[in-house]
Amino acid sequence: MDADMTAEAFWDRHAPKYANKPIADVSAYKEKLDCVTALLRPTDRVLEIGCGTGGTASKIAPVVAHVTATDLSAEMIRIARSRSGGDGAGKPEFLQAEAAQHIPGQPFEIICAFSLLHLVDDIPTVLDAAFHQMKTGGHFISKTVCLKDAPGWMRAMVRVLMAVRIAPNVIILSSAELTRHLIRAGFEIEQTRYFGKNRLSPFIVARKPA
Ligand SMILES: C[S@@+](CC[C@H](N)C(=O)[O-])C[C@H]1O[C@@H](n2cnc3c(N)ncnc32)[C@H](O)[C@@H]1O
Repeated sequence: MDADMTAEAFWDRHAPKYANKPIADVSAYKEKLDCVTALLRPTDRVLEIGCGTGGTASKIAPVVAHVTATDLSAEMIRIARSRSGGDGAGKPEFLQAEAAQHIPGQPFEIICAFSLLHLVDDIPTVLDAAFHQMKTGGHFISKTVCLKDAPGWMRAMVRVLMAVRIAPNVIILSSAELTRHLIRAGFEIEQTRYFGKNRLSPFIVARKPA
């Protein structure tokens, strides 16, 4: 990341490479998808923030009423749209938007944020926006890396990559801190679990209580 490069420009530049990157752990990804799908109902309106090139949104869309999938990067959204093959029944609607932006179509029953919350400028603002756009009883689902739970050498390496602007700016937070952010926003935690060997990216399901 150049010193003056915005997050949007960083992700625009990395989008083509990201689009061709294979899923690191396919069985862990399938497990995650199964856990998400188990929470979905055919009548649900779903929002995915930070959707990247739209792979997960496209898998969810056929089993719910509507998916809106947003991303800061115009290039990610362009690739997502071309991969999904246009709007229509069973396809997500892709929009370029910042994670804290209020999106048409709310309130949503489900809001997903995968590999996103460690990247945003201000987690409380993003979670407040999600809470306000969600129906009572709805679920916020997050899986994001919590680098404060990582060994010191890994945090040091990430800090170096950030300093030399190869990696995007990331928030080094712990799973406990992320949980506190969700509770402060008003959510109740329903489950926290991990998939595969990864113990750094908790899958958290949080509910907006009545
Ligand atoms: C690591 S990728 C994850 C993409 C996708 N969710 C996935 O799991 O494959 C992070 C994505 O978040 C997007 N992003 C970063 N900061 C954002 C922000 N503040 N608002 C919305 N999207 C953001 C990036 O453009 C990128 O597509």
